[in-house]
Amino acid sequence: METQSCVEVKNEWGIVAARQAGRTLSKEIGFGNVDQARITTAISELARNIYLYAKPGEICLEVVEKTTKTGLKKGIQIVARDRGPGIPDIRQVMIDGFTTSGGMGAGLPGVKRLMDEFTIDSKTGEGTTVTATKWLR
Ligand SMILES: Nc1ncnc2c1ncn2[C@@H]1O[C@H](COP(=O)(O)OP(=O)(O)OP(=O)(O)O)[C@@H](O)[C@H]1O
Ligand SMILES: [Mg+2]
Repeated sequence: METQSCVEVKNEWGIVAARQAGRTLSKEIGFGNVDQARITTAISELARNIYLYAKPGEICLEVVEKTTKTGLKKGIQIVARDRGPGIPDIRQVMIDGFTTSGGMGAGLPGVKRLMDEFTIDSKTGEGTTVTATKWLR
């Protein structure tokens, strides 16, 4: 089964809609309550970053699968994409407490901890794509 859905983030409603979509899909895939909360928190942080620094952008959710030694594994992939200013120093924004907005600087490092896989692809002046995946265990 392949599922892909994108939610536009250009205002606060987009953040709420992305969270909701994440809650519904992670439940459908079979994640427990704790992992559902981790996934929706990650989506929330990524959507909030788009809203604060780079709107408009989008959050796309997809059911992903991989074959492992023990069989087929399912997961959820979050892709947060924008065409905002980009992140000049990715290493820097992954340090706990780094912020350019007077925030906590906990968003991106938090998302990395909450998910199993995490990558940032960004180019100054072109935009940012954050991809994060969580696998069902
Ligand atoms: N999509 C984005 N486009 C451009 N810059 C971004 C984007 N997302 C994050 N950043 C930059 O990375 C910094 C760190 O982001 P992070 O989410 O970790 O912390 P924060 O948003 O500053 O604070 P918090 O999320 O804890 O409220 C931000 O202050 C901002 O400068
Ligand atoms: Mg943030």
